[in-house]
Amino acid sequence: PSPDTVGDTLVDWFARAARDLPWRRPDTDPWAVLVSEVMLQQTPVARVEPVWREWVARWPTPAALAAASPAEVIRAWGKLGYPRRALRLRETAVALTERHGGAVPADVAALEALPGVGTYTARAVACFGHGQPQPVVDTNVRRVVARLVHGRADAAPARAADLTDVAELAPADPARAVRFSVAVMELGALVCVARTPRCGACPVRDRCAWRLAGSPAADGPPRRV
Ligand code: ADE
Repeated sequence: PSPDTVGDTLVDWFARAARDLPWRRPDTDPWAVLVSEVMLQQTPVARVEPVWREWVARWPTPAALAAASPAEVIRAWGKLGYPRRALRLRETAVALTERHGGAVPADVAALEALPGVGTYTARAVACFGHGQPQPVVDTNVRRVVARLVHGRADAAPARAADLTDVAELAPADPARAVRFSVAVMELGALVCVARTPRCGACPVRDRCAWRLAGSPAADGPPRRV
């Protein structure tokens, strides 16, 4: 693959700059990835890490979590916040046990059909858990695309085209496309951050539509917080 595409540049940047997070290791199974993604949606990485380790050790399969009591899972959720997520994850585990023999499907549509699993989580599990080249779009990714592709300071509200935008940047090689999906998230988390982007550290700053436009301030309605 040409090292000059945005996608390949981000994959190479990820290899040298990314955080070493336990759920990103190659031996992390799709169930452990699903648990991590639910936890990470509303809780910072540092607080998720110890609780995630405890959960995947205690309930290493959907069947194990499905057999736990709601009170137990709430207690184990600890201080991650939004404890309803713990109950929903247990419901997801019950559905996986009943519908999929306790396995986590690799198919995005089957994943989205599970209770408590939305588009983001379904794609994250298919991609990071099953190694499928899927665009994975969260708030960080939408902000990166808004700047890099559209020259806007900030993301517009979520739109279906976000998935297409990300897919178009992805390298053609499937293994690299998988790493690309997590690389864009990481760029948004570490460099292309909301308030004070660290453009000096950005590997694609010379190809960023927002930078090339002079980094204009956000216009239109204020950002949602
Ligand atoms: N790696 C994969 N998904 C992630 C997430 N939601 N937050 C941080 N790192 C991740």
